[in-house]
Amino acid sequence: MSGKVWFVGAGPGAADLLTLRAAKVIGTADVVVWAASLVSPEVLEHARADAEIVDSARLPLEGVRPLYERAAREGLCVARIHSGDPSLWGAVQEQREVCDEIGLPHETVPGVSAFSAVAALVGRELTIPEVAQSVILTRLGGGKTPMPEGEEVIELARHGTTMALFLSAARSGQLQAELLGGGYPPDTPVVMAYQATWPDELIAHCTVGTLAETVKSHRLWKHTLFLVGPALAAGGTRSHLYHPGHFHGFRRAQPDARRALRKGQP
Ligand SMILES: C[S@@+](CC[C@H](N)C(=O)[O-])C[C@H]1O[C@@H](n2cnc3c(N)ncnc32)[C@H](O)[C@@H]1O
Repeated sequence: MSGKVWFVGAGPGAADLLTLRAAKVIGTADVVVWAASLVSPEVLEHARADAEIVDSARLPLEGVRPLYERAAREGLCVARIHSGDPSLWGAVQEQREVCDEIGLPHETVPGVSAFSAVAALVGRELTIPEVAQSVILTRLGGGKTPMPEGEEVIELARHGTTMALFLSAARSGQLQAELLGGGYPPDTPVVMAYQATWPDELIAHCTVGTLAETVKSHRLWKHTLFLVGPALAAGGTRSHLYHPGHFHGFRRAQPDARRALRKGQP
C-alpha cells in the first residue's frame, strides 16, 4: 500500500481529446484532483462513482501536500488532472518534488497541448521545409512569473521561426511591440485562439501588425494562445521524407528522382 499520484494531461478542453490512457487512469483513481476553471467537467465522467473529487483551484501547493501524505499513508491512487500537456506551465514539477519528499511514487500521462490543438484547428503545420524548422513555445514577460534573461519575446522573435505564445493575451500591446521589435515583418501571419476546442471557442486570423487591435476588439485577456510566423501561410515546398528520391529502411529511392534531389531540384 504505497499509493501513487498520476499527473494526467487532459488536453485543451474537448473531453474527447483525452487520451485512452488518461481516461483509464482517471477511472481507477480513488481521488481525482482537477481545476474546474481549466478542465472540462466531462472529463470527470471517467471517474469512479465513489471517487473523491477535489477542485485544485482551492488548493495551494501547501494544501495539496496533506492530500499526498494521506495518499501515501492510506495507499490511495490520486489522478491530478492538468490542462493541455503537464510538461508546460502546469506547476507540476513542484508537486513531483513534494511527492519525492514524502516518498510517494508518481507517473505522468501526456496530453494534447493547446498549441498543437490550435495548429490542428486551423489546419497548419508549424514546421514547413525551408521556412521554419523550429517552434518556440514561450510566454510574454512582465506577468506573475519573471522571465529568465534572454528569454524575452523580443529576443526569441529574432529567430523569425514559428512561435506559440501562451499566457500573453492580457498584454497584447507589449506582445505586438516585442514581436515587431524582434524583427517579424508587420504582415507576418498570426492565429489567435481563445478557448480552443471548448463550446465558446473563438479563432481569429490577423497579422503581427494587427495583433493588439484584434485581441482588444474581441476583449480577450485569458485562455488565449497565439501562433506566429511565416509558416502559417507558407506552402509549395516539400520535405525529403516522402520525396521519391529519398530512401530509408522501408523504401528505395528512384534513381532519377535521387539525382534531381541531390541537385536541389524539387
Ligand atoms: C497555465 S498554461 C497551461 C498550458 C497547458 N499545459 C498546455 O499544454 O496547453 C494556460 C495557457 O495555455 C493556453 N491555453 C490552454 N488551453 C487553451 C485553449 N483551449 N485555448 C487557447 N489557449 C489555451 C493559454 O495561453 C492559457 O493562458
